Amino acid sequence: MAGESKKWVLMVTAQTPTNIAVIKYWGKRDETLILPINDSISVTLDPEHLCTTTTVAVSPSFESDRMWLNGKEISLTGSRYQNCLREIRSRASDVHDEGKGAHIEKKDWEKLQLHIASYNNFPTAAGLASSAAGFACLVFALAKLMNVKEDRGKLSTIARQGSGSACRSLFGGFVKWIMGKDENGSDSLAVQLVDEKHWDELVIIIAVVSSRQKETSSTSGMRESVETSLLLKHRAKEIVPRRITQMEEAIKNCDFSSFANLTCADSNQFHAVCLDTSPPIFYMNNTSHRIISCVEKWNHSEETPQVAYTFDAGPNAVLIARNRKTASLLLQRMLFYFPPAPETDLNNFILGDNSILRDAG
Ligand code: DP6
Repeated sequence: MAGESKKWVLMVTAQTPTNIAVIKYWGKRDETLILPINDSISVTLDPEHLCTTTTVAVSPSFESDRMWLNGKEISLTGSRYQNCLREIRSRASDVHDEGKGAHIEKKDWEKLQLHIASYNNFPTAAGLASSAAGFACLVFALAKLMNVKEDRGKLSTIARQGSGSACRSLFGGFVKWIMGKDENGSDSLAVQLVDEKHWDELVIIIAVVSSRQKETSSTSGMRESVETSLLLKHRAKEIVPRRITQMEEAIKNCDFSSFANLTCADSNQFHAVCLDTSPPIFYMNNTSHRIISCVEKWNHSEETPQVAYTFDAGPNAVLIARNRKTASLLLQRMLFYFPPAPETDLNNFILGDNSILRDAG
């Protein structure tokens, strides 16, 4: 690289969808390496509606590592970014681009500076797992740029160090984050349980109850739960291991009744842990509770459940319908019980594989 022209810029753009946990991760046993206290399972959304797009660029003319999120420059000094950058740089290989006259050797990556631009097509930090898509996309794009020759499982151990749930966004379909046993975190990684084609009749609808930024971040909320909640200890040790086995079975067999019962129960227990935390954490609001009642009433009036609900660290509902027919009935019910404000643009109500229902309350 020495003595080369400073004119070249190499760039890679990647797009990564967010994921929604159906068996939740809540609590760390190691805060720095981000090692969880239980396994978790999630479904990765279709990239069309909720995803992060990240462009990473390298050039000898860049003077420092810099990053822009949704057009605003943000600091990269935090340990989560630094850990991901360090881990990726240490695995980089030679890159040669004859067309641009760029010849980068493995050792050069330590000195070269990066520019990163990331864009979320959904509200950041409103409990829609923006950090999951963000760190997964960053790690994936950097790995491509730097010619990192690791498989996705290994990359997931790096994304995990940016944000725990990010490790699951490196795969599509249903994904399990295995908590692992190693102290260094090498076996705490994501594996794909089934790909996106396996259970493709499910329809996921996100009811954006509020797009405001949440008051308690997942990181600090789960730290407080680990310190104060007895229910969390019981959950991690006794409940989740059993649920993980049952959920894997339900997914494998496309058994919607078991899937819905487990998903709703796990969401409710996660929010019960938040209430069991001192001081208690409230992520859901009245509208969230009304959505739960509406779905529960409907499910109980049918022979088998039609819709599963789950809520992360925020009030927004993720509703998983058995199939497209149920999804359209669900949308009708949602629009009846939560009529849109008169000024709402009805084009915002989309019915698709992963639809978004805006401003439901
Ligand atoms: C409720 O992955 O955002 O969405 O590891 O501290 O970055 P950090 O937390 P984060 O927590 C996600 C919590 C959750 C459940 C889940 O996605 O499993």
